[in-house]
Amino acid sequence: REPITIALLGSGVVGTSVARELTQNAADFEARIGAPLQIVGVAVRDTSKDRSETGLPADVFTTDAQALVDGADIVVELMGGDEPAKSLITRALSNGSSVVTANKALLGSDGPELYQLAMDHGVDLSYEAAVAGAIPLIRPLRESLAGDEVTKVLGIVNGTTNFILDKMHRTGAGLRDVLAEAQELGYAEADPTADVEGYDAQAKAAILASLAFHTRVRTSDVHVEGIMNITAEDITAARRAGFVIKLLAIAEKVERGEADGGAGVNVRVHPVLLSRSHPLASVHEAFNAVFVETKLAGELMFYGRGAGGDPTASAVLGDIVQAAHHRVTGGRGSGESADADLPILPIGES
Ligand code: NDP
Ligand code: HSE
Repeated sequence: REPITIALLGSGVVGTSVARELTQNAADFEARIGAPLQIVGVAVRDTSKDRSETGLPADVFTTDAQALVDGADIVVELMGGDEPAKSLITRALSNGSSVVTANKALLGSDGPELYQLAMDHGVDLSYEAAVAGAIPLIRPLRESLAGDEVTKVLGIVNGTTNFILDKMHRTGAGLRDVLAEAQELGYAEADPTADVEGYDAQAKAAILASLAFHTRVRTSDVHVEGIMNITAEDITAARRAGFVIKLLAIAEKVERGEADGGAGVNVRVHPVLLSRSHPLASVHEAFNAVFVETKLAGELMFYGRGAGGDPTASAVLGDIVQAAHHRVTGGRGSGESADADLPILPIGES
């Protein structure tokens, strides 16, 4: 079968992990999808950087992102930011390409228009990596819980601030010292203000609330307060009293009188004092955890690595496989491997 072509926009922390996995495990991906995947080009700002970690030849790297987008079956946007990401995704969807993105900042502000564009053109716009890194959360909310009624979503959705607060609790260090470490580990945004001021969690809260409550919540609808004002003394005082400080995203249905338009949604991000015995108090380092309360299922908890190149690549690659699989099957298949000749692995006792 003809290869499924991929234009990769960005080869930073996440893009490099994605490219490396696609090149190192090409045969496995082909077996899972039923067609080979071919990275036709990678858009970057600086083509002189060493990109050998991706396993790709130097001549696939280009600064001309727009030329790459045209003609690709799947466009994987891992540049971040508003522009040119928005124009490139718009162009790709309008061309009939599937799009995979981890860009929560863009989806939080312009998601509704982009989802509509994808619907109009009958193509996938997938963004599992945009909220809570490796944790499967978008698809469960959008698909598995579509027949239930979500009443509340509450969680730690920013790895950088959780890493910072956790380290401050454990070591007594100041916020700025720990932020540098989070940046080195690849957890922070290109501009870490987005993390520490809560804007990253604000965008993620908007995305989650939109999915959970089948409505349109934009980043600007979400009240936000970050962690910049939290001092080592605050952390010490909290610890002595048996609490930890966590930055939480909270989205809940609120009942209002008919005169106020009936049921509404309240979405906010702010630091919270949690008892040490609360399950979220033991979410350490850059891990994320999200509680979802529903009418029928009751309480669900999602937990895992919320940031970093490889964990985020896991979610991006899942979206790529699904989008490619849809292209092979011409629609929404079962998600089972497409290759009838998959190797039969021996089954035995461990
Ligand atoms: P990086 O800053 O590490 O990488 C960005 C990449 O995009 C770089 O390769 C950069 O090129 C390229 N790029 C940026 N602007 C342009 C442009 N105008 N034209 C061409 N190339 C451009 O970001 P991350 O990999 O950390 O993040 C990527 C996306 O994933 C963001 O949306 C982020 O919010 C999201 N995300 C990140 C997570 C993480 O843990 N890091 C987790 C979940 C989501 P060059 O290499 O030349 O600088
Ligand atoms: N900067 C983000 C975080 C990356 O720390 O959670 C993952 O979305």
